[in-house]
Amino acid sequence: MLRIVVCVSGGGTNLQAILDAIDNGTITNTQVMAVVSNNAGAKALTRAENHGIPGLLMSPKEYADRAAFDQAFTEKMVELNPDLIVLAGFLVKIPEQMVEKFSNRIVNIHPSLIPSFCGVGYYGLKVHEKVLERGAKVTGATVHFVNEGMDEGPIIAQKAVYVQQDDTPEVLQRRVMEEAEWILLPQAIDDIANGRIVVADGKVRYI
Ligand code: GRF
Repeated sequence: MLRIVVCVSGGGTNLQAILDAIDNGTITNTQVMAVVSNNAGAKALTRAENHGIPGLLMSPKEYADRAAFDQAFTEKMVELNPDLIVLAGFLVKIPEQMVEKFSNRIVNIHPSLIPSFCGVGYYGLKVHEKVLERGAKVTGATVHFVNEGMDEGPIIAQKAVYVQQDDTPEVLQRRVMEEAEWILLPQAIDDIANGRIVVADGKVRYI
């Protein structure tokens, strides 16, 4: 059984997709142990509570400085010791010490086709704004392992989504979620839970 912790900052629709997929058997051999949020008001915490899953607040704002937060956050994760940490719209940079301790055990969903429209400053609606500004015709979502870089770890899965002529950032964000994110992330978790993925030479291979 893959024991996962899901980290969220906002609406938590990706968290919901994971919970639904576990309930309907799309994801097997997986249990959500806890949901972590840096934002006490996150709707994602209510979604966790409705599912009887413990919610944990972990906000840099509650600590004297970033180093204190990084240490506390890492210690909490080590204590929980999940098999996999899933970043599902989590707007806090993962401390390097945590990345080291959970090597190839942290995954993130990013709402573009990496290496396009990713890295510092590319988060939330901003990603979709930049896609539209550039006039790109195809975008999508990527699930990847987290390393010390920003959106740079081994790519697990990607799904393309067409941009439409009259898209607004909000409309495009929604389409990327519906057509890519909510499918891709549960699929990746199921693949990991069922041992279908290995990382070799910095790349993901399906076995
Ligand atoms: C998603 O677009 C995700 O890819 C990005 O942040 C958004 C989170 O949405 N990293 P939600 O909280 O899952 O609704």
